[in-house]
Amino acid sequence: MQYFVTTEALAIQKTDCIAVAVFEQGQLSTSAQIINSLDNNIIEKLINQGDISGKPGQTLMLHDINGLSSPRVLLVGCGQQNKTNESDFNKATTALIKTLNKCGASTATSCLAEITVNERTKGWNTRQTIIAAGAALYQYSQTKSNSKPQDNPIEQLSFLAENDEVAELEQAVNSGQAIANGMDLARNLGNLPGNICTPTYLAEQAIDIGQRFDSITTTILEEADMEKLGMASLLSVSRGSREPAKLITMEYRGSGDDRPVVLVGKGLTFDAGGISLKPSQAMDEMKYDMCGSASVFGTITAIAELNLPINVVGVIPSSENLPDGDANKPGDVVTSMAGHTIEILNTDAEGRLILCDALTYSERFDPAVVIDIATLTGAIIVALGSHATGLMSNNQPLADALLQAGNDSHDRTWQLPIWDDYQQQLDSNFADIANIGGKEAGSVTAACFLSRFTKKFNWAHLDIAGTAWVGGKAKGATGRPVPLLVQFIQNRIAANN
Ligand code: BES
Ligand code: MN
Ligand code: ZN
Repeated sequence: MQYFVTTEALAIQKTDCIAVAVFEQGQLSTSAQIINSLDNNIIEKLINQGDISGKPGQTLMLHDINGLSSPRVLLVGCGQQNKTNESDFNKATTALIKTLNKCGASTATSCLAEITVNERTKGWNTRQTIIAAGAALYQYSQTKSNSKPQDNPIEQLSFLAENDEVAELEQAVNSGQAIANGMDLARNLGNLPGNICTPTYLAEQAIDIGQRFDSITTTILEEADMEKLGMASLLSVSRGSREPAKLITMEYRGSGDDRPVVLVGKGLTFDAGGISLKPSQAMDEMKYDMCGSASVFGTITAIAELNLPINVVGVIPSSENLPDGDANKPGDVVTSMAGHTIEILNTDAEGRLILCDALTYSERFDPAVVIDIATLTGAIIVALGSHATGLMSNNQPLADALLQAGNDSHDRTWQLPIWDDYQQQLDSNFADIANIGGKEAGSVTAACFLSRFTKKFNWAHLDIAGTAWVGGKAKGATGRPVPLLVQFIQNRIAANN
């Protein structure tokens, strides 16, 4: 799909469809009023007749309206005027895109971004339309033999702008497209099955990305390299698997020698739990245990596409977690790269075992901040469900910046404490630290474990177990938290200028 900004008057728009917003209680958006008055109050009549009520996501297609070059007009319900919220707007734009894709139109102009969505700007509405379109049009195809593309799909969407809005909307289109592309990449990697998306596969994808962008340099560390670095915690997880572990680094350079933002993404390509085997119910979903790494792939490529003036390093520890004769056993003690000994009381708490060594490794980049992104705990789903990503940090300004970026992008986070009071739950009789902290506050103690390895830098942890994919009939990766991370980077650049 291609996106454009247009300033042409509605009457002379040469497009297959014009989409305008209508509201509950019969109110019309500015563009709906223009079309209404071109053709004898047609929209008002249809609303009074009850053909459309204006509820978010309702649509009604009109044909051959007088006074328009466009053969179709799509009315899209956007809720109550001046009370449309972000979720209403997402419903409306999703319905818009799905309807356009099925109605035979290959080009369309959307006037929906002109409406008021809370305190959002028209640029935000534009960008959000593109992100919603990415989700609405996403189709997984890589391992389906008969996945046919849609007949006559929508190919071009233009956004109606006033002359003085063109620059803002064009920027919004660029950001939106880069974010949507990054989310698509994250969805594709997430949805791939574990037998295809292995640590080696992720490493190959990272090498491809390094070749695609001059600004990105990819390095792969093999198990032997990790052994030399003393990453016995990471390697203990991969010992139970026949797929060799990889430590993937993608360095994006957009700003001289500035200290980088380091993004550490959990890349567990399948988590069976190891000897502490998971129940078989929905175990297939543990192919999504690499969604943290997928979001790093998506974010770095979006940033590179936008040529953003910042340095970002993606660090991805990647492994499988399986039961095996050589796998970790409950009670095993390993020594991390940082030198702390760890008693592995539950082999299913493997994410922290691979992340701790990757976090220690991050020190060598002299990071400005380090953010890890991980499907770390089932407990975060109990706490926050699927709406917010869990946020924990050793630095409040960094946490505040992530909360802000979450609100700005509507890819939200919610902070949990990592007070010292929780640390004693990780006491071990046989090592410096245990890898589980009992049944209370499981997401917090997981973060407390990581915090032992992040003392040398400002660090935040994003637990995305509830937000990275959805289960059930619509099972699939969401592409989150790519919007959050790109927004965080964009805000950081704006604050430095
Ligand atoms: N990858 C899982 C976390 C997870 C579980 C994400 C369910 C999404 C849905 C992680 O490796 C894990 O197994 N965590 C354990 C930790 C426990 C053993 C302390 C968990 O959450 O059950
Ligand atoms: Mn696990
Ligand atoms: Zn896991």
